[in-house]
Amino acid sequence: MDTENRVIVGISGASGAILASKMIDTLIDNDLSVSVVASGPSRMVWQQEMEESFGEAIERWSEHNKFEIFPIGDFTAPIASGSYPAKGMIIVPCSMGTVSAISAGLSDNLIRRAADVCLKEKRKLVIVPRESPLNAVHLDNLSNLAKIGVTILPSDPPYYLGIKTIEQSAEVLAQKSLVALGISEQLPEKMQYMGPTKK
Ligand SMILES: Cc1cc2nc3c(=O)[nH]c(=O)nc-3n(C[C@H](O)[C@H](O)[C@H](O)COP(=O)(O)O)c2cc1C
Repeated sequence: MDTENRVIVGISGASGAILASKMIDTLIDNDLSVSVVASGPSRMVWQQEMEESFGEAIERWSEHNKFEIFPIGDFTAPIASGSYPAKGMIIVPCSMGTVSAISAGLSDNLIRRAADVCLKEKRKLVIVPRESPLNAVHLDNLSNLAKIGVTILPSDPPYYLGIKTIEQSAEVLAQKSLVALGISEQLPEKMQYMGPTKK
């Protein structure tokens, strides 16, 4: 396994399952090692929002020999330890429950523990929060995380690119996530803002 470029992907139970799906597809397309952990609520959301079932997606991703997935309650999984090398972690989409737990240092499931490990090991941690509107508790928790170096990466569509679909928006977010994780130096040229364009 390519240990240096392992990315841990936490999928929590917020809306936006397509964001997780596209993120994992993109990591695999880039031939990176991918360790996934999904919460119970995330499966409910996935079922509501996606045509491909989570099981089918796992089957497809498992064809990549650097893909692994762990149960949410498995604290014996290697990603629960700082001695297991990883470039960093992204939680996509990230529920306000998970934001709150990580902000409070509550490591009561494998997503939260792996995030806590990233923080203590000073590794990249990227959070794609999903809630609207945000209340003051959400904002305080996100602010606490930003202050300790977590990248808060909202999933807003990049309006300046003139994209037309949620799928395209998820693709741009995945590329932005690679930059935030320190895997890519910059966005692909077609996703960069190049100034005003003529209609
Ligand atoms: C269909 C569905 C959509 C949800 N969307 C959100 C959301 O966008 N943001 C959020 O914070 N919670 C959302 N929730 C609630 C979370 O799933 C719930 O708070 C859960 O406890 C989060 O746990 P987890 O972070 O461990 O996955 C949603 C739940 C369901 C069933």
